[in-house]
Parts: sequence; structure tokens; C-alpha cells
Amino acid sequence: MSQSQVCPILDGSLAIAKECSIPEYSPAMKLQPKQIDYTYFFNDTTAKRKPSELRELSRLVDQLPPGSIKLGVGVPNVHTFPFKGFDVELASGEVIKLNEGELAAALQYLPSIGYTPLINKLKEIQDQYHGAQNWKVKSIMVSSGAQEGLSKAVDMCMRCGDAVIMPDPTYTGAIDLFRLHDAEIIGIKQDSQGVLVKEMEKVLASRKKKNQLMPKVIYLNPTACNPCGTTIPTNRKREIYRLACEYNLLILEDDPYYYLSFENVHPTSFMSMDTEGRVLRFDSLSKIMSSGLRVGFVTGHNRLLRQMELHMQTSSMHTSSLSQVLVHKLLSHWDNEGLVSHFLRVKKFYKQKRDHMLLAVKKHLSGLAEWYVPCGGMFLWLKVIGLKDTRCLVTARCLEKNVILAPGYALAIDPKKPSPYIRVSFSIASHEDVDRGISLLAEAIREEIQAV
Ligand SMILES: Cc1ncc(COP(=O)(O)O)c(C=O)c1O
Repeated sequence: MSQSQVCPILDGSLAIAKECSIPEYSPAMKLQPKQIDYTYFFNDTTAKRKPSELRELSRLVDQLPPGSIKLGVGVPNVHTFPFKGFDVELASGEVIKLNEGELAAALQYLPSIGYTPLINKLKEIQDQYHGAQNWKVKSIMVSSGAQEGLSKAVDMCMRCGDAVIMPDPTYTGAIDLFRLHDAEIIGIKQDSQGVLVKEMEKVLASRKKKNQLMPKVIYLNPTACNPCGTTIPTNRKREIYRLACEYNLLILEDDPYYYLSFENVHPTSFMSMDTEGRVLRFDSLSKIMSSGLRVGFVTGHNRLLRQMELHMQTSSMHTSSLSQVLVHKLLSHWDNEGLVSHFLRVKKFYKQKRDHMLLAVKKHLSGLAEWYVPCGGMFLWLKVIGLKDTRCLVTARCLEKNVILAPGYALAIDPKKPSPYIRVSFSIASHEDVDRGISLLAEAIREEIQAV
């Protein structure tokens, strides 16, 4: 089972987009070849959402020509704020300094969709990595991490008791969002290349045949997924996309580890193959810039993004202005070349960590556990041989030895079922701690096997 998997290839071309706000949906904006009835994906709350007049005004103000007289705008005056400047020292030693206009934007309310200059930069990035997108029908909304975007997408679609398809195990932050809607979570088994498409197809065909409630949404974490570390290859993604089209499903592509793929070529995203406008893509700067800045972004069809923007208008209003302006400043400072070399640096760092972890597990856990070689990200998913459940092992025996791990049951769709898995993270532990921690895990496994 310890084998590396093939990662997909991407060839995107750079196109600089000009627009940033989401135009109201008009039937003239068609994605080829099929037009989706998005109202099918909206629940009753979403159907009730109306634009907030004042938030719409803030979007309008953002587009006014310089010199316009702003008498209707109820925002505080930034000159009363106790900040005069904002300089940030980068890890390279360089200093970036917000100019007067940037500082004013960083201290002020923004349109709910996000900071226009940042959105324009993010559009360039999406075009570069996922192929030129049609920004007449698609938009980007900046969110407080991928999590906020995901949460708003789930709140937009799910009615109480709706069904959703997701890999089992999966990121608990996603499972928990669906649980809030009492969702029927249909877990799909995985192998070294992610979800098994045949299983997914079987479930969908059988439910349709039996006239059962059909899921509206597939949730996937396609690159170096949390917790398994596997990446879904392009051919499998194409089959999943075909199923989504056939059964009229939205794909929630939650991809925060995209830039942490260890392969030489970037994965082909669902978004890059989306001809029908049924992919909502969630990106995050948490793993490559800072998780504390809380900057992520959602990309998708205007009709879907507009509903999420309306939700943003009445919840947090927008992602932190300071974070958005700072990220924009950094991206402008780096330009594409600087960004790419930053990605490479971060990837190299985690790849070295992964390689060291693999040496340690090979040394201490051979014969005691099985694993796939993670294609990227931060996680190694271990299956303990000879134990049906790792609950006691992780929550008692390892903790007694001061080793903290994530037990498999905690990442399963049904946490009550026994799970022989453990998620090990290689992101922050030093080489010495990895060696010692994995050797103590081996000791704990032996003790646990003896005890049961
Ligand atoms: C699969 C997955 N999605 C989303 C998130 C949330 O990321 P963010 O910090 O961008 O909200 C995480 C965080 O660990 C994650 O692993």
C-alpha cells in the first residue's frame, strides 16, 4: 500500500481580468453548453435573501470616480483612528509599507465581496493556475479563510435532511457544517487516489432507481487531502465531474493544500474543467501565507456567489480589510515570480518534513502500520495493523507518553464506528520530535495489541 500516486498536469494561460464586482445575474450570461437552474440549489433562507441597501451603496462607492462627493456614506472617518502607518517586515528582511490610500482602505469598511485590487490579483492567479476563466459569468469573493466560504455555501444549499456526498474520512470542519443541517451524509470509500468513482456512481444510480432523495452537493478536498494526504488524479476528477453533470450536483472543491502539492506539475482542478458552472472552488492563504490573516476566496458562478455575498452582507460584512490590503500589497510586491518562488520554498519545506516522517515511520512502524506516501500537504494517514480501533491507543496510551495524534474515528463520517486509523501531522514537529514521537507510537501500538 505504500506507493506514491500520479498527480495530474495543468497547463493554464495567464489572462488579466478587469472586473471585480458581481453583476446581477442575467439570462444573457450563459455558460456553455447547458444552463443550470440555480434555484434548485437554494434553500428557503437563501431564497429570502435581499441585498442590503447600505452594503450595496458601499459597493457603488467603490466604483465611483475620484472627486465624487460622498454625503450618503455612513462610515467612520479614518482620520480619527489611532494609526498613522503600517510597515511589515518580511521574512526576507524586506519591508513593505502601506501608502496613505492603502492604509485608509485597510482601516475602513469594504464591499462585502472584498477589496477590488485584491480580487483583481486573485483573478490573475486563478487564470494562471486554472486556465483563463470567464469573468463575465464568474466572480471571486474574499472570505475569512476557506472555512467561511464553505460555511456560506453549505448554508446556501442545504435544507434540513438533504443528502450530500463526501469522502470518508474527511475534513471534520466540513462534516460539522453539513451535520448542522441534519444532512444525510453519504460517505464514499477512498484508495490511494481519493474517492472511488465507481462507488459514487453506484450510490447515485441506485438512489435514482429507487426514487430516493438525490444529493445536490459533492464535497471534495482534492489535493493532498486532510486527513489522507492523497490527491485525486485528473482522469478521476473528469469522471466525478461527468457524474456531477449527469446527476445535477454542485461540486464544492475545497482546495487549501493546492499550493502544497509535492508534484512538479500543479493538479488539474475541477474548476478548470467546469463547463457548466457547477463548481464552487474554495482557496485559502492559510497554508501558504498565514492562517491568522484569515484570508481565503471562493470562485464560482455569479448566481451562486451573489447569494453568498448577500449572506456576507448580513453576517461579518466582509473579510478583515487590513488582511486583504496587506495580502494585496504583498502580492504586488512579489509579483508572479516572487509568489512562485514563495510557493516553491514552502513546498520544499513540507516535502522535507514529509520525507523525514516517512523515514521515521519506515524505521519504527514497519509491520505495525500501513500508509500511502502523501502527495503534498501536512498529513500522513496510518492504518494500524492488528487493531480494530485506535481510540484508546491515541486518547489514552499515546497521551500518557505525551504524544498527541488525531484518532481516525474523529475524522470519520460516523465517529461511533471503530477506526484503525491515525492522522499524523508532519507540519510543525522537529525532526527529533518526529523520531521520538513515532518510536513512542510504535511502543504504544505494541502495548495496546498485547492488551486487547
Ligand atoms: C480541508 C480543509 N478545508 C478548509 C480548512 C480551513 O482553512 P482556512 O484556514 O482557510 O479556513 C482546512 C483547515 O485545516 C482544511 O484542512
